[in-house]
Amino acid sequence: MGEMQIMSLAPHCGAEVTGIDVRAISDDDMVLLQRTLAHSGVVLLRDQQLTPEDHIAFARRWGDIDVNNYFPANGGYPEIAEVRKAETQFVNIGGGWHTDHSYDAVPAMGSILVARELPPVGGDTLFASMGAAYDALSDGLKATLGGLRAVHSADHIYGHDGIYAKTDQAADLKGHDISANAVHPAVIHHPVTGRKLLYVNPAFTLHFEGWTREESAPLLQYLYSVAMREEFHCRLQWAPGSVAVWDNRSTWHFAVNDYHGHKRLMHRITISGVALS
Ligand code: SIN
Repeated sequence: MGEMQIMSLAPHCGAEVTGIDVRAISDDDMVLLQRTLAHSGVVLLRDQQLTPEDHIAFARRWGDIDVNNYFPANGGYPEIAEVRKAETQFVNIGGGWHTDHSYDAVPAMGSILVARELPPVGGDTLFASMGAAYDALSDGLKATLGGLRAVHSADHIYGHDGIYAKTDQAADLKGHDISANAVHPAVIHHPVTGRKLLYVNPAFTLHFEGWTREESAPLLQYLYSVAMREEFHCRLQWAPGSVAVWDNRSTWHFAVNDYHGHKRLMHRITISGVALS
């Protein structure tokens, strides 16, 4: 492999990194890759040839592994969660804007997704920069948000009566009895760069602490409308051998569900994070 090169995918998030084989990445290149992720929110690496063991070994270079409670595990590898949609299914996993594990007291740092089986076209993943969304707010709203904390939960998504229970993904998912709830500041500092980031998301955030859901909804909807502005996004188009690493603190993501009749199988490993402040 040649020298590591970094190209931005969009003005506010995303970088494609070439010139490295992640199975044999040096410590220096690993530091550069981690720095790139901290600043760009998502890193795409193409033409990698990762076995499940290689995927796990690469994940351990980033930190400890958080085993997902809800997704099916891949065969003999409990560390690897399968994000899958069969030819016969209509609902996908992650088909709405979200950030993984915000319902945990110490949310995951990020995830490493490896493309295993892809539709002929479609199945892209969109990312949104929470730093750019925060920066776009007025000073007045920033000051208000600085004093707010938000309540997050997984229960309405993965619980017995949750959103997925009513879909054709129900039989694949597990952990319906596990309750996961957490409170985090509505604006956090990125643990590496210190940048201020909006930390609420449409999937898992229920309301602001001390506010009702009805009171919270208009402000949350406004914040989501800012984060959904397309100029803050980047789009990953997967190909065989593609691997993406994303940072859950600084980005949201959205798995586009536009490939009905085709199978898509991704392997995800989630990396532990730190408490947010
Ligand atoms: C996820 O939300 O973790 C899945 C992303 C994807 O399948 O593109």
